[in-house]
Amino acid sequence: MPAAAQAAAPNANANPHLQSWLGALARARSDVGACATIATSGRLTRAVGLVLEAVGLQLPVGSDCLIELPPGYPQRHAEAEVVGFAGDRLFLMPQSEVAGLLPGARVFARPGPAQSAAGGSSGDAHTKRLPVGEGMLGRVVDAAGRPLDGLGPLDASRRVPLGAPPINPLARAPIDSVLDVGVRAINAMLTVGRGQRMGLFAGSGVGKSVLLGMMARYTSAEVIVVGLIGERGREVKDFIENTLGEEGLARSVVVAAPADNSPLMRLQGAAYATCLAEYFRDQGRDVLLIMDSLTRYAMAQREIALAVGEPPATKGYPPSVFAKLPALVERAGNGARDANGRGGSITAFYTVLSEGDDQQDPIADSARAILDGHVVLSRTLAEAGHYPAIDIEASISRAMTALIAPSQFDTVRRFKQALSRYQRNRDLISVGAYAAGHDPQLDQAIALYPRIEAFLQQPMHERCDYAASIERMGSLFESA
Ligand SMILES: Nc1ncnc2c1ncn2[C@@H]1O[C@H](COP(=O)(O)OP(=O)(O)O)[C@@H](O)[C@H]1O
Ligand SMILES: [Mg+2]
Repeated sequence: MPAAAQAAAPNANANPHLQSWLGALARARSDVGACATIATSGRLTRAVGLVLEAVGLQLPVGSDCLIELPPGYPQRHAEAEVVGFAGDRLFLMPQSEVAGLLPGARVFARPGPAQSAAGGSSGDAHTKRLPVGEGMLGRVVDAAGRPLDGLGPLDASRRVPLGAPPINPLARAPIDSVLDVGVRAINAMLTVGRGQRMGLFAGSGVGKSVLLGMMARYTSAEVIVVGLIGERGREVKDFIENTLGEEGLARSVVVAAPADNSPLMRLQGAAYATCLAEYFRDQGRDVLLIMDSLTRYAMAQREIALAVGEPPATKGYPPSVFAKLPALVERAGNGARDANGRGGSITAFYTVLSEGDDQQDPIADSARAILDGHVVLSRTLAEAGHYPAIDIEASISRAMTALIAPSQFDTVRRFKQALSRYQRNRDLISVGAYAAGHDPQLDQAIALYPRIEAFLQQPMHERCDYAASIERMGSLFESA
C-alpha cells in the first residue's frame, strides 16, 4: 500500500466517509489494473503468396506484429514482420507458415520489450531482441533464439537487438595476426588473419561442411558461432552430431534456420548468428563465425523482395540483395582496440554455392568483391579423393602478405609455381610424352609433386596447427 494511504489509515477508522472513499479508490485501482492495455489494431486486407497486406496500422519497417487467428486454431495469433509499405498499406510477411488467416483479421503491434517483461526496457519498443550470453555456448537454437537441443531454457544473460550500428572503418583494428584454423593447406598457403572474412566457394557435395567442421574443431579461436542458413534440415543434425562433434560443440553456438523456415527466419538466422559473434567479440574474444550458406541468405532476401514487388535486376536477384550482402558481411571483422591494444575479432567463413566455372553467378561475383579472400573447392579434386578439395591456384587470401614474413611468402610462391607447372603439363606427363631433362623446373615439380599432394591432403580427424603447417611446407623444399 502506498505510504500516503498507510498514513491515512488510523484516521480512516475514525472517519467512515474517508474509509468508504478509500475502499472505492482501491476497487477502482484494481479495475484499472485488470484492464487490458489498449492496443491499436489494423485489418488484414490481402494475402497473396508470401505477402500479407494490412491497413489501419502505422508501424516501422522491421517491426513485429500479431495477426488474430479464428478460434479453434492452436495459436491465438500468427506472427508477422513489416517488410514494406505503399501508401497506407503495410506489407507483412509471416514468420512461419500460417493457416487460418481470415480477411479482415485484426493486426496488432507486438508488445515491445518494455511491456513484455523480457529483457531491458531501453530502446525502441518495436525492436526485436534475441538472447546472447556465455550460457549460449554448447547450445543449438533457432533463428528466434529458441533452443532446439532439448537441453532446457537458455542461460542467456542479455537480449540484444538484431541490428548493430556499423563500426567506423578507421576505428577497426587492422588484420595483422594469424588465426590458426587447424587445416594445413589453409594455414600455409592461404593464411587467414584474425578478423578476416573469407568465402568458401564450392558446388554441393564437395566437402564444404566437412572442411568447416575441421576448422571449427581445430581452430585457435576461442568461440565458434555457426549459422546454418537454408540448408536441408537433415544436414543440420548431421553437421552438429558428426562434423562438429562434442568437442566442437562445447565452445560453439549453432543457429539453425533450415530450408523449411520462412525466408524471414532464414534472414534472421544469419543476422542472429552475426549478433552472437558480435557479442563474444565485444567481450574481447576471438570468434570464428561460420555461415553456411551466404547464397541461401541471398535467396531468402530475393524471395522476400520479389514478393513485396521489387523488380528483379541481375539474374532474378533484386537490387536489395546486393545491398544486404555487404551489410551482413561488414559486421564481421575486427572490433575497435581497447586501451591495452587488445580487442576481440570475428574471423568469418561464408560458403557460396558456385558450380564449376560459373563465373556469371551474381552472388558469387558480389561475394568475391566484398570478402577478403576465397577458398575454392574443386569437384575434380573431390572426385579424385583429394580432401580437403582446395583448388590452391584458384584460391586467394588477400590479407596474407600482411601476415607472414617475406621468407615464408617466398616458400609459398615456390610451392605454387611447382604445383602450377606440374598441373599445366599434367596431361603430357601422364601419357609419358614428357621426357625428363628438357625442363629442369618441371623435373623438380614432378619430383616434388607426390609430397605436394600429400601436404595438401588432410584426413578429417587430423589436426595440423599453424607452426606444424609452416614447418612442413618449408621441409618440402629442403631436400629438393
Ligand atoms: N576431409 C575429408 N576426408 C574424407 N572425406 C571427405 C572429406 N571432406 C568431405 N568428404 C566427403 O565428401 C562428402 C560431402 O562432404 P560435405 O562436407 O557434406 O559436402 P558439402 O557440404 O559441400 O555439400 C562427405 O560425406 C565425405 O564423404
Ligand atoms: Mg554442406
